[in-house]
Amino acid sequence: MIIAKSINELYEAKKNLIGSIGFVPTMGALHNGHISLIRRAKDENKIVIVSIFVNPTQFLEGEDFSTYPRKDLADIEICKMSKVDILFMPSINSMYKKDELIIMAPSIGGYVLDGASRPKHFDGMLQIVMKLLNLTSATKAYFGKKDAQQLALIKQMVNHYFLDVEIVECEIIRECNGLAMSSRNSYLSPKDKIRALTIFQSLNLAISMIFKKELNTKIIKQEMKKVLSKVDKIEYIEIVNRDFHSLESVELQGTIILVAVYIGDTRLIDNIWI
Ligand code: PAF
Repeated sequence: MIIAKSINELYEAKKNLIGSIGFVPTMGALHNGHISLIRRAKDENKIVIVSIFVNPTQFLEGEDFSTYPRKDLADIEICKMSKVDILFMPSINSMYKKDELIIMAPSIGGYVLDGASRPKHFDGMLQIVMKLLNLTSATKAYFGKKDAQQLALIKQMVNHYFLDVEIVECEIIRECNGLAMSSRNSYLSPKDKIRALTIFQSLNLAISMIFKKELNTKIIKQEMKKVLSKVDKIEYIEIVNRDFHSLESVELQGTIILVAVYIGDTRLIDNIWI
């Protein structure tokens, strides 16, 4: 595996490799969710590039940029074991210039749900994803469905800017108790983790209500809220279509049920796609 710490090193490493490129962008602190993306990229491409870059522009003032888990040594080992060809770990200075050209998330889709509670988060996320897709010349790029709104916005950017890359949507990977894998789970104490399980329980409750033909989203959300009574703050419980428009009634193909909550200071999101 080649570790490229600068853009020149990335270009140099790419020069000697021929074939389709599967790209997995990450912010590091790799877990089984990332590993499943890397495996899929490996299965579907000749070359796999993983990036680790904790992107400052997608964190808001007061968010966890400085404390975000950084586990470079462990991450390098995971990438080696996963037979990654190039691990790209650029510095902040190499990725950003003075007087940057800005990419803005769309005014509706980028400012509801996570975009409403984290305004400008998606601007920074799209900006770095655009840079990384261009630098890696990815044939396919792999993103998890856990960040459902992120995924939708990246697909929109690829479509609106005519980028020549296929965005591959990958299933959410969960711990055996149902908690969705996230680098931020490392902030949780064992007791917090038990409270965090209610997130998946609330999503499961929604699914079982839908199976029993309860399609009224207001009623489903009310019941989900009861299951989430032990979290510290519910930021949103939402039921939307694939365009992230709120639904009054569940559409049996094309609905996403999303939850964002706080356990202590840790913000956790999860969702289920129908
Ligand atoms: O999902 C993430 O880890 C980040 O938002 C991404 C896509 C790597 C961009 O920084």
